[in-house]
Amino acid sequence: MKIAVVGTGYVGLVTGTCFAETGNDVTCVDIDKKKVEKLSSGQITIYEPGLEKLFLRNVKEERLRFTTSLSEGIRDAEIVFLALPTPPGEDGSADLKYILGVAKDLGELMTDYKVIIDKSTVPVGTAEKVYAAIAKNYVGDFDVVSNPEFLREGVAVEDFMKPDRVVIGAATERARKVMGELYGPFVRSGNPIIFMDVRSAELTKYAANSFLATKISFMNEIAQLCERLGADVDMVRRGIGSDDRIGKRFLFPGIGYGGSCFPKDVQALVKSSKEVAYDFQILNAVMDVNEKQKLHLLPKINKYFKGNLKGKRFALWGLAFKPNTDDIREAPALYIIDELLKAGASVSAYDPEAVNNVRALLGDKISFTENQYDCLEGADALIIATEWNEFRTPNFLKIVTALKNKVIFDGRNLFETDAIKELGFYYESVGRAVADPNESEK
Ligand code: UDX
Repeated sequence: MKIAVVGTGYVGLVTGTCFAETGNDVTCVDIDKKKVEKLSSGQITIYEPGLEKLFLRNVKEERLRFTTSLSEGIRDAEIVFLALPTPPGEDGSADLKYILGVAKDLGELMTDYKVIIDKSTVPVGTAEKVYAAIAKNYVGDFDVVSNPEFLREGVAVEDFMKPDRVVIGAATERARKVMGELYGPFVRSGNPIIFMDVRSAELTKYAANSFLATKISFMNEIAQLCERLGADVDMVRRGIGSDDRIGKRFLFPGIGYGGSCFPKDVQALVKSSKEVAYDFQILNAVMDVNEKQKLHLLPKINKYFKGNLKGKRFALWGLAFKPNTDDIREAPALYIIDELLKAGASVSAYDPEAVNNVRALLGDKISFTENQYDCLEGADALIIATEWNEFRTPNFLKIVTALKNKVIFDGRNLFETDAIKELGFYYESVGRAVADPNESEK
């Protein structure tokens, strides 16, 4: 099938590449000339495991092309994906200026039937607005479909190729048929394509992300309780997760959810609810809990250093909002860095992928090292903010030798409390007992 993808950001590039990989003819359109030049010459612009190989193969096979011209991009395409940014406006609602701008242009350029697909996360009612913007200038037949993405950064290719489900909100049989054909190869394993009306599809995306965020904030509150009641959140998590109705996934407490989706989508759903005079109470709490949770380690750090962080130096492992990505949007590490710097401490950080992004944001406010052990040299304590695999079984001897004090504040519960206490560390994590080697000596 001939497909155009407008917007070559994270979602657009994954979508375009994966459709090309399954034999479709894909043209990606972006207004950013430099980006298009780079992509056309075979240089990938984002880090996503497994994507580069598919990208290179399909560029070479000429199934994946890039252009700055919308008219050229959509000329032969029956299917046009809109994968454009929807940044939160000042009031938290999604800003639709990019999507509606392209919709207007499409209306001026279209000459035959096309299915226009909202792939970006957009508030309920957006497809109707896109339809109206196109119909202003184009009188022929066309459909606007909602097909939300459920891609997790770090495993986006796998999520795209083997989706748990494909949600399609379409108003006509013709559009449903086109979409069914397009996604057929991705659901051979038997996972469903769920067809529904457009508004339900639009709301499904927000409901899914908000529900997952709720799960996380709920567990973070259970973790708070565990610390106060002397329970262990790892045990409670396993205890409840084995109930099928609850499920094992997304029950990991930590230092809050971040990234480009959860914070933005929860906020946008609260805003949409307000617009229809509904106060979505649970989600207000989900956001409040998350804000507090990002700084969960700070009181612990302050307690250990008796409120005096001035002149202290902290080694920080992990900057990305989660492992396997270089994305630092709403990353808890940034909030921790901010507080430490405000308190007069300095930070030396390591992350396998996100250093360049943080350097671009913070300049030389903190220092960076090339490997996870160099930043420990002479530091007063180690703080862990992202659960990269390479942090899970580190060389503890190297840590002990390099750190000034044997102290670890772990926002991701990477280590067994008893084992680390045995190694002589003072160790604080989330929702579990404090390991204090001095205590047992008393
Ligand atoms: C998410 C959704 O999973 C995806 O379906 C949607 O399309 C986009 O948003 P992503 O932002 O890539 O994907 O990250 P995800 O892996 O879902 O994690 C989101 C955040 O939740 C991260 O900050 C992560 O650290 C946190 N998290 C996740 C927890 O704190 N505990 C958990 O148990 C799981």
